[in-house]
Amino acid sequence: MDYKKYIAEKISVEGVTADELYDLIALPPNLEMGDYALPCFKFAKILRKSPVMIAEALSKEIATDEVISEVSAVNGYLNFKINKSGFVRGTLDKILSEKDGFGASDEGNGRTVCIDYSSINIAKPFHIGHLSTTVLGGALYRIFNFLGYKAVGINHLGDYGTQFGKLISAYKRWGDKDTIEKGGIRALNELYVKFHQEAETHPEYDDEARAYFKKIEQGDEECQALFHWFKELTLKDVQKIYDMLDIRFDSYNGESFYSDKMQPVVDELTEKGLLVESRGAQVVDLEEYNMPPCIILKSDGSSLYATRDMAAAMYRKTTYDFYKCLYVVAYQQNLHFKQFFKVLEMMGKDWSKDLVHVAYGMVSLEEGTMSTRKGNVVFLEDVINKCIEKAYTIIDEKNPELEEKMDVAQKVGVGAVIFGALYNNKIKDIVFSYDKVLTFDGETSVYVQYTCARANSILQKGGAVTEYDIPELCAQEIELVKALATFPETVKAAAEKYEPSFIARFAVDVAQKFNKFYFDCKILAAEDEKVKNFRLALTNATLQSLKNAFGLLGIGIPDKM
Ligand code: ARG
Repeated sequence: MDYKKYIAEKISVEGVTADELYDLIALPPNLEMGDYALPCFKFAKILRKSPVMIAEALSKEIATDEVISEVSAVNGYLNFKINKSGFVRGTLDKILSEKDGFGASDEGNGRTVCIDYSSINIAKPFHIGHLSTTVLGGALYRIFNFLGYKAVGINHLGDYGTQFGKLISAYKRWGDKDTIEKGGIRALNELYVKFHQEAETHPEYDDEARAYFKKIEQGDEECQALFHWFKELTLKDVQKIYDMLDIRFDSYNGESFYSDKMQPVVDELTEKGLLVESRGAQVVDLEEYNMPPCIILKSDGSSLYATRDMAAAMYRKTTYDFYKCLYVVAYQQNLHFKQFFKVLEMMGKDWSKDLVHVAYGMVSLEEGTMSTRKGNVVFLEDVINKCIEKAYTIIDEKNPELEEKMDVAQKVGVGAVIFGALYNNKIKDIVFSYDKVLTFDGETSVYVQYTCARANSILQKGGAVTEYDIPELCAQEIELVKALATFPETVKAAAEKYEPSFIARFAVDVAQKFNKFYFDCKILAAEDEKVKNFRLALTNATLQSLKNAFGLLGIGIPDKM
């Protein structure tokens, strides 16, 4: 039962819709004040009365019933108390019957949401900078599917540009098949770094690289083969990481896929009179929108990142007929997205409004920043492995007898990396710290995992109860159930705001409330059988909710810790 909805429907305020009321109704910070509250401040203008008077008047209009047990007006707030046992039963029954589907819905109605995420660059390190796009995108992918959308995961590979000419040049000069085959991305990156070092004193290498890139484009057999080999090696290498993070894609159509799909874009722009020449280049002027021009073709006729993105957007619209197309890309690229979205709008593509740049902040390690060209980069794989190792050490220290320690360490370590990137509002810059993400009693995934192991062990002993009666309830129990009840709306909001952090925060909140309940109330040792049974059902529902939340984030939960 959606209590907010039930309450919203009971209230009528002239000129305010039930949906608006629904959005305004909030959970007060403490139980004394009520279970739900409607702030009346916004109505003062429409009704020409003070919020206090409005709340007073409304409180007299609304009758209590079997759901709402009390209505009161306090300082401009309309407070509601609801019948606790009905609420608790409704919530637990829902969780325990819907199980893995608790929080899911069919609001998406099968509509397609394209999600462009991870979108790595071929032959370049998969570094810590790709962490956020990968795990944010992966979480959004699962969240949208959970809400009845059809998510299409797209890895828009960076596989186009002179850097591939550079690689071919470097490979031919210094490379060796075996080393590259064994070394994968790292070996390719070394070649790339060496090329840049050497080209400083040999500028002719750069010309050679450009020529090789041209050859790839023209379909030269040898260059194409090398290019595809680099690509294969890169994808094989990153697959290990995708597997660890539980990341999947439906398409790997990257930039080079659009090589032959850009001409129609250029033609359409020309036809619509949007292209102008500027210092030899073909650009779309965006001065009117306070942006620098969007460059479509360079003076030598070659295309740009934006040109390929426009072709990609059009291709996605035709292929998937998306309801929304998301780009999970760092905020450094804000301007790029604003520019090409605008150009598509100017072309009359009404669907350009459905393109969304889901921008996120930077992740850095305490050790400092990096540059691909100089070679001092932090590989994501190393970060994950280090986290797993550290997790192993901690677990081994805390519980040396634990079975399958390595498997637990894997879940804890990987979970910590994912959670570290997802816990904060996505636009915030993050400084990744191993110690912080692996703290057992902080706002961390391992804290939540440990809570789950605790719940699991209780259920092992007492039974995973689903049939229960409602006893006299205490505040800890009610607080916990109230937190659990917010899961469906949390998932919905996470999708609306493209903010998986809402779900991460839900998990920490529930874990904290469960632990408070666990320490304050006896579960297995409860004297009254009815109380014990109810508490087991509540524990069961808590574990289920945390599993669903972590499932959406892509984090595993060990049975024991
Ligand atoms: N490969 C790009 C980078 O690493 C990100 C691509 C994002 N997706 C896109 N459609 N532009 O910066």
